[in-house]
Amino acid sequence: MNTPLAHTPPMGWNSWNTFGWNINEELIRTTADFFIESGLKDAGYEYIVIDDCWSEKQRDENGRLVADKNKFPNGIKPVADYIHSKGLKFGMYSCAGTHTCAGYPGSFEHEFVDAETFAEWGVDYLKYDYCYKPKSADGENLYKRMGMALRNCGRDILFSACNWGADNVHSWIRESGANMFRSTGDIQDNWFSVKNIVDSQLGKQAYGGVYCHNDMDMLIVGMHGNGDNTEVLGSLPGGCTDTEYKTHFALWAIMNSPLMIGCDVRKMSSEAKEILTNRDIIAINQDIEVRGPYCIRQWNNPENVFALIKPLSGGDYAIGMFNFSDKKSEMSLQFFDIGLPAASGRGLELYDCYSHSVIGTFTERYAAQIESHDCVMFRAKVVKL
Ligand code: GAL
Repeated sequence: MNTPLAHTPPMGWNSWNTFGWNINEELIRTTADFFIESGLKDAGYEYIVIDDCWSEKQRDENGRLVADKNKFPNGIKPVADYIHSKGLKFGMYSCAGTHTCAGYPGSFEHEFVDAETFAEWGVDYLKYDYCYKPKSADGENLYKRMGMALRNCGRDILFSACNWGADNVHSWIRESGANMFRSTGDIQDNWFSVKNIVDSQLGKQAYGGVYCHNDMDMLIVGMHGNGDNTEVLGSLPGGCTDTEYKTHFALWAIMNSPLMIGCDVRKMSSEAKEILTNRDIIAINQDIEVRGPYCIRQWNNPENVFALIKPLSGGDYAIGMFNFSDKKSEMSLQFFDIGLPAASGRGLELYDCYSHSVIGTFTERYAAQIESHDCVMFRAKVVKL
């Protein structure tokens, strides 16, 4: 009866990065409203996800989870109904351990009853964390359990595993039935965090793919150091430049990460909105074949400057070029290295995903001068000369 979920990386919004514990029904409803008004839904964002801190500290007398009476006075179902009435989908959060990271009840030994509760409430997505896992319990088995419970709860619920890349998760998570899996610790709203996550995940592309995606954590685009959650989010001063947010988004897109927005979308700047709704970048992330990119590094600056090349369905290639260094740098891509020798009599027509126009047809190589922390993103077409 289940529909296969998450063929391509899921897209949506999650409350954690900006709001932490400070969530309520009004926030979720107004965020859903804004998804429609702002064009986020039209751009492909679909899931609205409530993270940790939504429940009472105790289960009810039947062992069921109960929504926090102050934050969600009408319970969860009306919130789900509202989100569905907007044509959007609704996500929630629980944990494989005895408690969530913030100390609320976890689903350990309650997997099947909780999956049933979520299904009754109309939940479409479950993020499943890893705090307070009993030491004697096998984490791999706990994800298999919730995977089985969700697959048999009577509703299509996307399973978003969140064990931060622990226990070599990439090597077994697909078998659990999960649709996406966090592969790193929590992102922080600063450039170093973006860079560290990318460095740790380049080379792990082969583990993601259709129906089970490598989740590099929620997007920080548009946070600009704001949020009730800065204490949890990190010790460095928060915030990136718009250039850094642009590069962060391009990397998550071309590396096939789910695109879960983490800023307060109701207050986002026009720059953040432009980054998050760039249809050409999103199309690269949502390509139906979901092939991961490979990396070619600049020979004289390999640590900091590199290109990512991702085959797209229909014969085009996404090409991203990234400059992590603190000064303007060149990335020169030799077409020979991506399978296009000069003797083929062919070149690449490059469509720029930011100006939304073709910048020309190039043969043998393309060299870009890239500003510090900036990127270029192309959709390349192989053309006969
Ligand atoms: C962390 C998780 C975060 C957030 C938080 C809630 O373990 O990585 O994304 O869900 O728990 O307490």
